[in-house]
Amino acid sequence: MDIDTYLEQTAATRSERIRWWQDARFGMFIHWGLYAQLGRHEWVMNRERIPVAEYEKLADTWKPKERPAREWAALAKQAGMKYMVMTTKHHEGFCLWDSQQTEYNAANRGPGRDLVREFVEACREFDLKIGFYYSLMDWHHPDGALCATDEAARRRFMDFTQGCVRELMSNYGKIDILWYDVSWPLPDAEAWESVKLTSIARELQPHILVNNRAKLPEDFGTPEEHVTAAEEGRAWEACMTFNGAWGYMPISPDWRPAREVLSMLQTAAAGQGNLLLNIGPAPDGSVPPEAVARLTDVGAWIDKNGEAIYGQVERAGRERVEWLPLGRWTLKGNDAYFWCTRWPGREMVLGGLRTKVNAVSFLADGTPITFEQSEDRLVLKNLPYHDPDPVTGVTVIKLECDGPLVQKLGAGCVVLE
Ligand code: GLC
Repeated sequence: MDIDTYLEQTAATRSERIRWWQDARFGMFIHWGLYAQLGRHEWVMNRERIPVAEYEKLADTWKPKERPAREWAALAKQAGMKYMVMTTKHHEGFCLWDSQQTEYNAANRGPGRDLVREFVEACREFDLKIGFYYSLMDWHHPDGALCATDEAARRRFMDFTQGCVRELMSNYGKIDILWYDVSWPLPDAEAWESVKLTSIARELQPHILVNNRAKLPEDFGTPEEHVTAAEEGRAWEACMTFNGAWGYMPISPDWRPAREVLSMLQTAAAGQGNLLLNIGPAPDGSVPPEAVARLTDVGAWIDKNGEAIYGQVERAGRERVEWLPLGRWTLKGNDAYFWCTRWPGREMVLGGLRTKVNAVSFLADGTPITFEQSEDRLVLKNLPYHDPDPVTGVTVIKLECDGPLVQKLGAGCVVLE
């Protein structure tokens, strides 16, 4: 099938396939592999120029504890995440499942078992949707680089890649997301045979969502390490590290605070996008305590304020609402959620609202807020002096309006229509 016909076909079913994912908003990314044993970034093999023969030894020394995926799934659930995406094979080339394509796999070597199966079972137990990350780039496979210059090598490598994807899509029941990564060293979708590769997946898993990293736009875009909305109508998911590395890197001190995670979620929801937040488990599979602590706070917050992120949100862009010094918006139907990140004290004024407000309350506990609405000022009164959410410093105020909220301020103090 040619690329255009293929893309048209997948686009035709997208809005149906993608709805659960858009409602879900928030997922957990898991980077776990041999590199965790070194703890110096998942690119350690490449960045430190570790020879294949030396790196391979890590395959035998890796001895994860029993079923750590249950811990990840429990944490994801508690944190308000609705799906998980795990690295089935990262750039290092080690397959975490029981593969027939290579003996360099978890069942055959140190772990002695199928880690992908454990992941899938944990997702199901905790009612999370299931995503498989798969790195096209492979530093271990003998043809992984050679394929760029040698056609016979490319053929072998494509057979291997297609075999891997077929196994992943065949052996674990329903899989919800296929998350490709790094298409080095081949230049384009033709060379990667991306239509053929993903058609294998789509035949076996007709409802599956596929990201844009096999040189085709597919179902969603993947901004990395920044949360930036795609153009309207295009689905997107920002993938973010927790501490600057994807793999386990305990020496990195740069843990994002819960408050920043909420800020990323707000940006995602305001742009109709998703957030895929990463954890890099330790070699034994345990989650770094820094991630657990922050996700616990995030989860407690979402438990009370989830309504502001989940579901079919609308774009809260410049055409609808304006920037305010105290916080930002997410929008859903006739409800508007003001995420206050700088608590002003007893009174708060939101300017420029062009929609009649019927009720105002704290989203977290439903407590009503006294308000007065005049032509273009909404004054909220008798507020607590201190920020009601001392843990994250993010308090959501819900406005129930007569229609979809519109706010207009402009730069001057007189609105020019
Ligand atoms: C980059 C990195 C890779 C990581 C991925 C996640 O492509 O190469 O290590 O897995 O981003 O998006």
